[in-house]
Amino acid sequence: MIKITVPADKSISHRAAIIGAICKKPLRIRNYLRAGDTLSTLSCLKELGIGIEDKGEIEITSGELKKPKASLDCGNSGTTMRLLMGLLSAQPFEATLTGDASLSLRPMERVAKPLKIMGARITTNKGRPPVTVIGGRLSPISYELPVPSAQIKSAILLAGLFAEGKTIVIEPNICRDHTERMLEALGAPIRKEGLKTEIEGPADLLGGETITVPGDFSSAAFFIVASIIAKKPIEISNVGINPTRTGLLDVLRKMGAEIEIRDERCEFGEHVADIITKGGNLSGVELKEDLVPLMIDEIPILTIAALFADGRTTIKGAAELRVKESDRIKAMVNELRKLGADIEELLDGMVIKGGAKLKGAEVSSYHDHRIAMSLSVLGLLLPDIKVIDSECVNISFPDFFQSLSFLK
Ligand code: S3P
Repeated sequence: MIKITVPADKSISHRAAIIGAICKKPLRIRNYLRAGDTLSTLSCLKELGIGIEDKGEIEITSGELKKPKASLDCGNSGTTMRLLMGLLSAQPFEATLTGDASLSLRPMERVAKPLKIMGARITTNKGRPPVTVIGGRLSPISYELPVPSAQIKSAILLAGLFAEGKTIVIEPNICRDHTERMLEALGAPIRKEGLKTEIEGPADLLGGETITVPGDFSSAAFFIVASIIAKKPIEISNVGINPTRTGLLDVLRKMGAEIEIRDERCEFGEHVADIITKGGNLSGVELKEDLVPLMIDEIPILTIAALFADGRTTIKGAAELRVKESDRIKAMVNELRKLGADIEELLDGMVIKGGAKLKGAEVSSYHDHRIAMSLSVLGLLLPDIKVIDSECVNISFPDFFQSLSFLK
């Protein structure tokens, strides 16, 4: 059995650093993800006067956040920008958040809107970055999210820590809940009931703990699918299996994959386990809308699995894919067609007919790490495929190609 490990969870790493910045005592982070996006978060926090020491583990020492001397460069990272918007909304100074070409096209008004209702002054460039936040005293709100987005939810909850009274967020469908779990593990007065989360502010976080970040399920996903389509069983150790992230496991099992979860444990509010893939013949599946937020970053790699499934796979209710690091619906449809795939574009998804005869070709990553990795997985079966601009894997998984070579 091939054994692999995957890099640390990106979402949890971002949160540990940002939440660490407002803890009273230093917070140590073991296995922090050292990749483009999460390094952007650390450099923004440094600009804000937060002490960051790299002793193998990262130690975050807060103190008062300070007005940055320059704008905060979030690079490619939507999570950095959106979560920092929440934090900055409560700080008594002005700060501007910028990003790269891809981030500069992504919607930010959906985050600014609730924060402005809470009392922050926020301006955007027609709803997009750069975003300037002038924070201050905040009032609590009760807010229904227009889309199931953990980033909007997290920004409001982080701001809610500073507002006097109960801030309530209601999500339309369950989406990832790492912020809630981490705040709860750090003793914040947070309560979750179904789709509703309440936080009582103002709340101090003591800190002083060590958080160990598990492996990223979204990175493991490429190897889970790769192993099934290449028919090579693998074991991936120490992966986060938070149920708000693992929708892909349910869908692949429904398609016929055999996947086992072993040695499940709980660390700092997060479930962690080893994942063993055993193979299976795939059939097409209809992906229901309520499952989409539980696997939003895994839909590009699901389309790769669908190419090798018997029959049709329908993905609907996934319009959010159009505002990720690239338009992931367009990217997958355009590039998979170049390889001979039978794939139809829908406004909010795709229909893929499995079993088409595929051929190698030059395809583009759209400078999007998850598109680059999804298409590169196909290289296990189509040696003639060439993925252009694939260095963008550094955003979340710098050793991706080395790990993939174990399955060759
Ligand atoms: C993330 C939430 C998701 C996801 C992104 C990371 C997070 O975005 O696509 O890669 O860490 O909160 P949305 O919250 O916008 O859906």
